Amino acid sequence: MAHFKPPNVAFTQMAGTGVFAELVGGDGEFKYYSDGEWKKSCSGKSVPIINPTTRETQFKVQACTQEEVNKVIDAAKTAQKSWAKTPLWKRAELLHKAAAILKEHRNPIAECLVKEIAKPAKDAVTEVVRSGDLVSYCAEEGVRILGEGKFLVSDSFPGNERTKYCLTSKIPLGVILAIPPFNYPVNLAVSKIGPALIAGNSLVLKPPTQGAVAALHMMHCFHLAGFPKGLISCVTGKGSEIGDFLTMHPGINCISFTGGDTGIAISKKAGMIPLQMELGGKDACIILEDADLDLAAANIVKGGFSYSGQRCTAVKVVLVMDSVADALVEKVKAKVAKLTVGPPEDDCDITPVVTESSANFIEGLVMDAKQKGATFCQEYKRAGNLIWPLLLDNVRPDMRIAWEEPFGPVLPVIRINSVEEGIHHCNASNFGLQGCVFTRDINKAILISDAMETGTVQINSAPARGPDHFPFQGLKDSGIGSQGITNSINMMTKIKTTVINLPTPSYTMG
Ligand code: G3P
Repeated sequence: MAHFKPPNVAFTQMAGTGVFAELVGGDGEFKYYSDGEWKKSCSGKSVPIINPTTRETQFKVQACTQEEVNKVIDAAKTAQKSWAKTPLWKRAELLHKAAAILKEHRNPIAECLVKEIAKPAKDAVTEVVRSGDLVSYCAEEGVRILGEGKFLVSDSFPGNERTKYCLTSKIPLGVILAIPPFNYPVNLAVSKIGPALIAGNSLVLKPPTQGAVAALHMMHCFHLAGFPKGLISCVTGKGSEIGDFLTMHPGINCISFTGGDTGIAISKKAGMIPLQMELGGKDACIILEDADLDLAAANIVKGGFSYSGQRCTAVKVVLVMDSVADALVEKVKAKVAKLTVGPPEDDCDITPVVTESSANFIEGLVMDAKQKGATFCQEYKRAGNLIWPLLLDNVRPDMRIAWEEPFGPVLPVIRINSVEEGIHHCNASNFGLQGCVFTRDINKAILISDAMETGTVQINSAPARGPDHFPFQGLKDSGIGSQGITNSINMMTKIKTTVINLPTPSYTMG
């Protein structure tokens, strides 16, 4: 194994200091957030967070107990009642304030992302800024769409006179449970918090273990903005202790989850409550003969290797027409050779993957492909959690990498002889998040888009969730419901109607 020595790059503003000092106990452990206060768990236990680069314990967070979860949910229930009666413009004002505080403190939060999940430094800062913008957009979108309702009259339905006026409005669901994944612990937390709060809900956040400290810092920005006590809280701890307890808790009225197939288990166990789930993808990139190969290669590298492939929307399989495959692979190889590999502090393109077990899983997929005869465009190299970018050509459907999500910097190329073959491979996946097609023929692109069984198809660009107000959804095992700011606000409300019954049809006078 190659030797890898992480350098120690200092950030100007440090996590857990300044306004964030109250998050840390005297023992150096991070506290959890309940009823408007930072607290130590009475369990007396903590959960270590391993830095993916150094593979040493970086932080410790509280191992909360079920009793503490009960208290948080009770407080959320109480706080939600008065929050729902808080004028919409005031809710929006507080969200704008939180967004500004979040952006102001982007550096210490980004530092946590670098240390906990090895996100490249610049991408870490971008995640926090994008999150502030998302929260502000929620506030603006909320005041528009929640400020409107519908008015219906009864005589459009057969047999009715105009004796009923129906007024509809959107009301909150109650307590939302938000569970974001490790790859965007801040952004995919606020994509749930913003819509929940503007719609008049309260929220309990259970952050991923890797990324929990970044999430706690983000939560403190909402605390500093002055949200009412108990309205939002953040419990940390072991999934085995509080995971099922949270998701099956009778006090929870909606679950918004982003992550892996744990979401499928949650959806089977949760009660009769709305669910919003995004559970990954195997996004296919179909390259036609007439494609701009430079554009395609640039998007394959960006889509496949940014954040070391640890994105649900990463390009996860390239399906290229055989006649242009050699040319495309050469172009992709040339770009892969330019990717920098190393620690996130140095803002390298490829950084260590989140855990040793992830690295082992990725290695398993690579070895399976090797054994079954895939062509290695680069030498396979790994040091600790760091895996060098790898393009695997001539991948066949009998290889695991053709179907499974590596969530790492390894990208398979399958050569196809017809567009139908590409569509067939895409649709045979149990996932259906996004896909993309590269062609200069817009008519063909539209036909292919309609044929691909995915929530989104990008034409001439790599898959991506953003901009954050676009609808974002997966078919099949990729999820339930649709996200994006507007859809999330709507999903976190229900329709309430009031019907005015008139003694005579309203048009009888005059
Ligand atoms: O993996 C999470 C998924 O939502 C990806 O987001 O912004 O990288 O396309 P993005």
